[in-house]
Amino acid sequence: MRGKYSRWYAAIALLGSVLVAGVFAQAPQRQQAPKGPWMDKSLPPDQRADLVVKEMTLDEKLSILHGRGGFQAEGAISNGGAGVVQGVPRLGLPPIQLADSAVGVRAAAERGRYATLLPSTVALAAAWDSSLAFEYGEVIGRELRDQQYQASLGAGVNLMREPRNGRNFEYAGEDPVLAGKTVAQLVKGLQSQKVIGDIKHYALNDQETGRNIGNVKLSKRVMRETDLLAFEISILESQPGMVMCSYNKVNGDFACENDYLLNQLLKKTWGFKGVVVSDWNATHSTAKAAMAGLDCEQPGAPAERARFGDALKKAIDAGEVPMSRVDDMVHRIIRTAFASGVVDEPPLGRVVDPFRGAESSQKIAEQSSVLLKNANALLPLDAARVQSIAIIGSKADTSVLSGGGSAQVDPPGGGASRFGGPAVWFPSSPLKAVRAKAPKAKVEFHDGVDVKAAAALAKASQLAIVFVNEPTTEGRDMPSLNLSGNQNELVSAVAAANPRTIVVLETGGPAAMPWIDSVGAAIEIWYPGVKGAEALANILFGDVNPSAKLPATFAKSDADLPHPVIFGSAPPPTPTPAAVPAAAGAAPPRFQMTPFDIDYTEGLKVGYKWFQAENKQPLFYFGHGLSYTTFAYSGLKAGIDSVTFTVRNTGKRAGAEVAQVYAGLPAAANEPPKRLVGWEKIQLAPGESKTVTVKLEPKFLSIFNEEKDDWELLAGEYRIFVGGSSADTPLTASVKR
Ligand code: BGC
Repeated sequence: MRGKYSRWYAAIALLGSVLVAGVFAQAPQRQQAPKGPWMDKSLPPDQRADLVVKEMTLDEKLSILHGRGGFQAEGAISNGGAGVVQGVPRLGLPPIQLADSAVGVRAAAERGRYATLLPSTVALAAAWDSSLAFEYGEVIGRELRDQQYQASLGAGVNLMREPRNGRNFEYAGEDPVLAGKTVAQLVKGLQSQKVIGDIKHYALNDQETGRNIGNVKLSKRVMRETDLLAFEISILESQPGMVMCSYNKVNGDFACENDYLLNQLLKKTWGFKGVVVSDWNATHSTAKAAMAGLDCEQPGAPAERARFGDALKKAIDAGEVPMSRVDDMVHRIIRTAFASGVVDEPPLGRVVDPFRGAESSQKIAEQSSVLLKNANALLPLDAARVQSIAIIGSKADTSVLSGGGSAQVDPPGGGASRFGGPAVWFPSSPLKAVRAKAPKAKVEFHDGVDVKAAAALAKASQLAIVFVNEPTTEGRDMPSLNLSGNQNELVSAVAAANPRTIVVLETGGPAAMPWIDSVGAAIEIWYPGVKGAEALANILFGDVNPSAKLPATFAKSDADLPHPVIFGSAPPPTPTPAAVPAAAGAAPPRFQMTPFDIDYTEGLKVGYKWFQAENKQPLFYFGHGLSYTTFAYSGLKAGIDSVTFTVRNTGKRAGAEVAQVYAGLPAAANEPPKRLVGWEKIQLAPGESKTVTVKLEPKFLSIFNEEKDDWELLAGEYRIFVGGSSADTPLTASVKR
């Protein structure tokens, strides 16, 4: 197995072991364990924290409530991550080094290190697989520790209300239950490695356009049943050490000084015991933010300039922030450090094992690539029979795409990548991977810039595999669902030349596919991670039977979305076919610089709920995904707390089906027609049947009652739907409550 990995990994392992002594020698020194009673590991973290807080001077307290500036500004105290919570050496508290790590640890190359690029979080959600999500978190947690970080800045669970959001690749799709459960498992896996987990960006930071000035307007009921439900599930199930508040405003107040979001909901209702950390420079005030529930300012600045430094001291003196609140802020940070294990078992620093990470990354890519279309069983390809293949577009001769911004992972051998710089491609070559599968076939590559020449190669080949891509990044949204540059034109021309055309999409989220009827097959591989091409080849040639299902609806066009134009942006530019090469990025939208409202008038109707309520046909529904085998559903027995049914593999290959359970609420609830309430991923040999029982959590069948400020399971008739996608539910039943 290992022999197959490219020489990059061997080189990295070698380089890493040479550098490691030097690198970690520069990393912050471990603290001498002092004798204080708080070092008694048998005491609960809260008690240990109380003992420490009693010993601390005010200056020591303030020193941990703000960072000292991002990256370089931290100078010697930084380990190279995005921020630091300073330690208190006198009391044996180490600094908490914070590293971005949404899809792998960021900025490793800068310090001569390596980190595994995993498939995007949205891809992970497409696997609908809790143990895989746990493994995803484990990889990140392990590699954080290896690089001597104590905390992750990762695990985004913002709902995909806006399919053009530039950060959708970092999030877990449009459904709160799928997103919440996926991210909960990810954080559990991460925290199992004894590092502090983080869930972000709390809340409703669902678009990048004007993210610092947009004010999201939504009722409590809608927020609780949609975006906040994803946070509620992931936070309650994983108990992350940190929650990062977001840049935007919610109903008039910035998220990082929003009493409802932070004090009332997160801390009081959900009982969150950890640290509310600001997104970078999202602390807008001192007393207001502190009293609304923000605990730690990042990346902060030296005390004289930090909002939670000297300014907080003044606010304490002025009686605007009581000492009890300051102690609570400090307590939260310290109890989190104890609870996570970073004090008792500090990360010592090790060379990252690139093989182990790559193996997980490939497995996750195989489980998360969604087969969207497969007319006449064009796939899987038969290596013994295929004679010639044209591979076209998207640097498919050399590499696969990754997502940008603070989720960017540095490529092996490619050096450090720049925030806001060009899209970063990872050395995993689809051309080589396909050649390795079909050594006797003639496999040729064309970059797709000259559409006519690409189509000519497709015509001369037995089949064509066209790669299309859309780089996305933090800081900007896609102006449109349309693929940028000449890519739609390219696919249409190739498909016209050869109907045996397979389209491979490398996107951060949904894309419009005006050519879908003319192609033979289409597969969404997202940003597939460091072994993306190898995973894809296994699917194309049937070594892996695809089982992933879309975690988001793919609309036919922007016009079908609740908001055809993104709030705060100029109208999408008219596409200029042929002017831009296939691999080029989307043009950044023009930002509207005056504050504006983001009025989500679709309310509860997010994603598939919008399309079903409005009777609009999307391109592909939430939950859709094909297999090389077929499944039949039967025998539904439904109750209000569980449903039982049977799934049979009616084809000739072993495969896995993600059987999905949806509910329609009583008419009085006034809800969209269907909502996801549970699922089970079932492995089946050919001809095999399994009967499964899916438990239904009462909250997922409830509405949020604003007057009672609580969930309410209404009396009445519930419809239960079971099947292979949100639009294909062959089993139905009614249940009375
Ligand atoms: C992003 C966060 C990130 C932070 C630190 C911000 O711009 O929104 O997701 O963790 O920077 O890099």
